[in-house]
Amino acid sequence: MRYVVPFLLPISERCKMILKNDLLLRTARKEQRLEKPIWLMRQAGRILPEYRKVREIAKDFKTLVKTPELAAEVTIQPVDILGVDAAIIFSDILVIPEAMGLDYEMEENKGPVFPRRISSPSDISMVHVAQPEELNYVIDAIKITKRELNGRVPLIGFAGAPWTIFSYMVEGAGSKTFSKAKKILYTNPEFAHQLLEMITKSTIVYLKAQINAGVDIVQIFDSWAGILAPEQYKEFSLKYIKQICEAITDVPKTVFAKGAFFARAEMNRINCDVVGLDWNMEIKESIKLIPDKVLQGNLDPCALYGSFNDIKVETRKMMEAFKTSYHIVNLGHGLYPDIEVDKVKCFIDAVRSFNGNND
Ligand code: CP3
Repeated sequence: MRYVVPFLLPISERCKMILKNDLLLRTARKEQRLEKPIWLMRQAGRILPEYRKVREIAKDFKTLVKTPELAAEVTIQPVDILGVDAAIIFSDILVIPEAMGLDYEMEENKGPVFPRRISSPSDISMVHVAQPEELNYVIDAIKITKRELNGRVPLIGFAGAPWTIFSYMVEGAGSKTFSKAKKILYTNPEFAHQLLEMITKSTIVYLKAQINAGVDIVQIFDSWAGILAPEQYKEFSLKYIKQICEAITDVPKTVFAKGAFFARAEMNRINCDVVGLDWNMEIKESIKLIPDKVLQGNLDPCALYGSFNDIKVETRKMMEAFKTSYHIVNLGHGLYPDIEVDKVKCFIDAVRSFNGNND
């Protein structure tokens, strides 16, 4: 069934009208703080047998990402199975380097690998600012997901932060030290800025296309924020996150900079609505440092390896610490593939029962 969407209204108003569960959006806009919404990073993924089945049909990760019907199906699975308060579009942050001209492969049990990488200024000719048409498969997946969700919960769009994308484009894979990427910051900062600007432009058009296709809120993942020294983080990462936040005006924005505990005061000043916390960031201290933003997070995903009782205790501790704040419940990073579904459900139930006792 298709909606009759009143296109004359601003996007945020359209979303408000058609969502049945808009707890996440009302919290992101600071309209309510009593009931805490919950979703989980990597909620669609290998923890779910249903995901693994679809992944088998697709044969590999990239085919799954590039087949809109299948991507939509796995996006919706956690809403059906776990009962989370939001869906996040099934894709990857690495679709941006690919659209810019650097193809990647997802190697089983190893992660992403780029056969060609950027190592010197002359390599800039390998890449271009991505055009939205180059990411049509994500846009189509968003449209199908919105239609199939039928307003049950909001849909989260996302992109990687330019610094994290830069790191992959230079390293050609994940890394422990990110020394190749950091070397460029020290030896040729102008070149670093040139590439970061191209990534930023690509990311802005991409997020705008996601919003036009229907996502209700966007999240910027700066997964390798913690690898930079504070001054460098400002110059090579925050600068570009700020540009993205200034350019995106129609939906709430979340910034999740993993490991950037040193940048929390700065996060309070950027033009975003929600700030994601990882588990290293002490909650009370974070509330003091980021008093103006809605906070998201931050249970250690490894806490879900504990017993059911331990999970309840840890969850209650976290909920208690955030109790009087605007808070979106999540983990401090993505779910690991070997976490049991029942443990995840236990976490979600513990959040809901805390909400229930909070009136
Ligand atoms: O959160 C979600 O549920 C939405 C989907 C999503 C994926 N990747 C799917 C995925 C999101 C938001 C991402 C973002 C992403 N991708 C990040 C930022 C967040 C973070 O985790 O720090 C990063 C750094 C990547 C790059 C990436 N993608 C890596 C390093 C890997 C390999 C590690 C792994 O878990 O295997 C991926 C693969 C990937 N992306 C998987 C999923 C579900 C697993 C692939 C599979 O099904 O085999």
